[in-house]
Amino acid sequence: MQIHHIPVLLDFIGKEILRPTDKFIVDLTLGEGGHTAFFLGAGKRVLAVDRDERILAKARERLAAHGAALSTWCGNFADAGALFERNSGEYDLVLMDLGISMYHYRESGRGFSFQAEEPLDMRLTGGDGLTASQIVNSWPEHEIADLFFRLGGEKKSRGMARRIVSERSRKPIESAKALADLLKSFAPPPRHGEKHAHGATRAFQALRIAVNGELDHIEAGIRNAAAHLKAGGRIAVITYHSLEDRLVKETFKSFTGAKVHVNRYRERPVGSGWRLLFDKPVLASPDETRANPAARSAKLRVLVKEDPPPNV
Ligand SMILES: C[S@@+](CC[C@H](N)C(=O)[O-])C[C@H]1O[C@@H](n2cnc3c(N)ncnc32)[C@H](O)[C@@H]1O
Repeated sequence: MQIHHIPVLLDFIGKEILRPTDKFIVDLTLGEGGHTAFFLGAGKRVLAVDRDERILAKARERLAAHGAALSTWCGNFADAGALFERNSGEYDLVLMDLGISMYHYRESGRGFSFQAEEPLDMRLTGGDGLTASQIVNSWPEHEIADLFFRLGGEKKSRGMARRIVSERSRKPIESAKALADLLKSFAPPPRHGEKHAHGATRAFQALRIAVNGELDHIEAGIRNAAAHLKAGGRIAVITYHSLEDRLVKETFKSFTGAKVHVNRYRERPVGSGWRLLFDKPVLASPDETRANPAARSAKLRVLVKEDPPPNV
């Protein structure tokens, strides 16, 4: 079996987030199972979730030797409330490693990659939900432009939407490669020391987020985890772009509450029962990003349920 995805911030999570006393971990974004393989190897029990049944089946096969230490559930972490209830109060660490896996680019056949002559699908789940092809081939020009701008931060969104609409009036844009080739020339000039970004990068990101409603589930996922976490337990979330990161930051803030000044140099949260493990998000080290460029944009934030809750 070929494993494509290198788990991000794994060393840091192993050393700074996971504690020797932790027994029960929830991995809400199993993927090919990189983080979970580590947790199982460290003797932990893991409950793992992924909404993509194909990658979940692959991870189960990879991790089969761990037997009953691993249980899995296929579904959206936003809908995992009932699942969490089974062992409510026993979870020491919940991990959410957001976005998609290298598996999706390289093996899924669902049109995530620029080079692929694959149908423009991009759905993590099967069934009859919206596909990237439906957006590209049927949405009005201004809605495509708005989508690329809002979910991709694409500055040339209007020009891109215009080109898409003109092309599709001749023939439908059927493959990921056809769309990527069409948008290639919108590439921004390379920034100093960085590799030249493909012109379709932001548009593809926006399509993927829209097709899977990615931003709609994060808050509910965190709230499910928080409701059933053990006292002293931690929720660790890794994000890969600013829209995700802002949502995680705001959701965490709704737990930690407003800060009050203790004196002019120090602030502390009003006794909410929650605190942040780190004031600033943790980034991958230069060594890690050299070895795994996908880690370049990763940001890790960790919310802690205090034990015992503060007496304020
Ligand atoms: C970045 S990958 C996880 C990689 C994994 N940590 C590893 O080391 O192999 C994110 C995974 O989360 C899944 N996913 C994304 N959104 C989800 C959601 N709302 N509920 C459940 N799974 C989700 C994706 O299908 C993908 O497999």
